Amino acid sequence: MYDDFARVYDALMQDIQYKDWADYVFRIFLNAPIPVKRVLEFGCGTGNITLELAKKGYDMTAVDISESMLTVADEKAESQGIDNIRFYKGDMSNFAIGETFDAVICCCDSVNYLPNRQAFENFILCASECLAPGGLLMFDMNTPLKYKDVIADNTFVYNLDDVFCVWENIPGDGVMNFDLSFFTKRDDGLYERFEESQSQTIFKVEDVFKMLKIPEFKNQKIYAFGTFLGGSSDCDRVQFVCEKR
Ligand SMILES: C[S@@+](CC[C@H](N)C(=O)[O-])C[C@H]1O[C@@H](n2cnc3c(N)ncnc32)[C@H](O)[C@@H]1O
Repeated sequence: MYDDFARVYDALMQDIQYKDWADYVFRIFLNAPIPVKRVLEFGCGTGNITLELAKKGYDMTAVDISESMLTVADEKAESQGIDNIRFYKGDMSNFAIGETFDAVICCCDSVNYLPNRQAFENFILCASECLAPGGLLMFDMNTPLKYKDVIADNTFVYNLDDVFCVWENIPGDGVMNFDLSFFTKRDDGLYERFEESQSQTIFKVEDVFKMLKIPEFKNQKIYAFGTFLGGSSDCDRVQFVCEKR
């Protein structure tokens, strides 16, 4: 997963307003009980949020399970002269680093790649272990409504400058499968084809909220993504935030 896809990920995500996304994360940091300086990001991908937060002055530690995504992220940081990011390959449901952070974040529905409830609970415990008292855990998630009404069984076609992509959604039992075919333009003008299959798990908003109700955390909140208004299963995307005791 996210192997060859790493080469074209940023092209496909070009409409996502990552600056605004990082600003939203920043505004949530401002509400933390402790000043946020050291941030651990899980599922950093090609570093789109990571770099924005690093530019705002946060000391970033960024983790992803895909070496190819990390390579792209690292190259971007280096080419922009950003040196306050450490990258690690790791699994957010089985990660330990032996230090604590003021915030643990996970963005852009990366948590939907966790394969089941047990993995989600493990992710929450790993995050807890990595947080200083008063530190924030925050992550966004696609809701079942989004999988039903927006993603559904649609096929999306991206016809970009050097990449043509067919993105097919195949609903399953509690999961959404994606079959992706990419055609990338080579230097000789011919197109090279590669494929990738992925699955995201459909978690209920109320189940995840219950998972956060463990003694390690307090002040659990669900926001409608991008706002500080209450979020629910009626939203496409929700933002979970809680504080480490
Ligand atoms: C949709 S991308 C989001 C990337 C980035 N956060 C962004 O906003 O562009 C999901 C990322 O989660 C990573 N991922 C999936 N499962 C993971 C896991 N168990 N541990 C760490 N990273 C994971 C994937 O490799 C991928 O880079």
